[in-house]
Amino acid sequence: MENAHNWIVLKFGETSEKSLQDWCALSKRIKHLLSRIGSMLKGNWRTLARQQANASDAGDRITLDQNDASSGPLDPRPLWWRRRRDDLLALCPPDRPLYVYDLETVSARATTIANLPHLDRGWYAMKANGHPDVLRTAYAAGLGLECVSIAEVHAAREAIPDLDMDRILFTPNFTARAEYAEALALGVHLTLDGLYPLQAWPELFDEHDIILRVNPQTPEGHHRHVQTAGPDCKFGLHAGDLVEAQSLAGAAHCRIVGLHVHAGSGINDPQHWGRVGRFLAEIARQMPDIRILDLGGGLGVDNATGPQGINARALDAELATLKSAYPDYALWMEPGRFIVAEAGVLLARVTQLKRTPDAWFIGINAGMNSLIRPALYGAHHDIVNLTRLHDTPDHIAEIVGPICETADRFGAQRPMPPTREGDVILVDNGGAYGRVMGSHYNMRPPAEESVI
Ligand code: LLP
Repeated sequence: MENAHNWIVLKFGETSEKSLQDWCALSKRIKHLLSRIGSMLKGNWRTLARQQANASDAGDRITLDQNDASSGPLDPRPLWWRRRRDDLLALCPPDRPLYVYDLETVSARATTIANLPHLDRGWYAMKANGHPDVLRTAYAAGLGLECVSIAEVHAAREAIPDLDMDRILFTPNFTARAEYAEALALGVHLTLDGLYPLQAWPELFDEHDIILRVNPQTPEGHHRHVQTAGPDCKFGLHAGDLVEAQSLAGAAHCRIVGLHVHAGSGINDPQHWGRVGRFLAEIARQMPDIRILDLGGGLGVDNATGPQGINARALDAELATLKSAYPDYALWMEPGRFIVAEAGVLLARVTQLKRTPDAWFIGINAGMNSLIRPALYGAHHDIVNLTRLHDTPDHIAEIVGPICETADRFGAQRPMPPTREGDVILVDNGGAYGRVMGSHYNMRPPAEESVI
């Protein structure tokens, strides 16, 4: 803590001779840093940061009372990885990063969805994490598996030898004819998200039931890359296409039995699924064979120091309202992130440390080729030094990897304790869209996976 104190005072001292413009810029940066520190640390620090952020610009000398930082990082949640810290420290390899998934957490999350009183069927969107043990756990808890490619269908069949095809929902986008043909031959549920398959390959759908994905035109989600609705979005049918879809389906001798919306990912407002349900139910009035409304996935999760994710009770209240308004329809949902994000962490070792006039860097042996979310979406992941979990932060650091890109940064301006080469760094909420989005960029293999 003393270092952080000295550092902040030093930064002010260094620039006291500079122009007013520089001074204001620095002042803004310090305010930003203080509010970041405040949100990461316990209440007394929070209050202090607020006070400091309100301090007037020029001439203010910021001092931090060391007593204010007497306690460790803020994290009131009973996170599984705190309980399993010793196991994780023992598991972390000396020379390569590792994802670790807690199957109890997967099971608890999957059970929550499977047992939502007003949900008829829950599906795990396995694109979030296709580890065989995760698939088995979600399936055992009562969820079906939502697959976006035939390769995911194959992986599901391999992981679960007695897999019931009635528990596979295939939702491809712009894929080739052969994938539809194979999936239909296997007898899975199929969601179509364009007219082309019905126009070009009507023979495939003969005597089959299908679900149609509709674009509700209102994008949602934590970043524009994960918004899957809107006028220029590649997913789903526009409402104006539905009349033609019905006549094509009639000509192909298939029945449209369901409607689907997935508007985006990382949505924290439970009312979203109520809105989607009403939107689909209104369309379904014109379509007599509809019996399923699939409300999609997209459920946001908690960050220990960030926004709060979806509360299952509030979500079920939305479903209950839908059920009472539209009792004829079975309600389906297909979350991915909600099932696995908090069940996974990425462990990496500290490789090098660097201090520049403006920043401190902590280098770790995992890069954006293991977890691309911060680089691609600016996504926030909480980061702790697991080796020194209970030590007091004394500096603010950039947590970076070994990949040859400036975007190879897991976290910016993170309060960290004194850190040494070889320490184990934990990146939280790594269970969803982590390893599955990994690459071999720079010929570095992405982190491997393990379960506990
Ligand atoms: N259903 C469909 C049709 C989807 O496209 C998706 C996700 C899901 C369900 C599951 O969504 P979830 O519950 O996981 O939000 N890589 C991004 C997320 C991309 C989501 C793609 N589709 C990220 O790391 O945030």
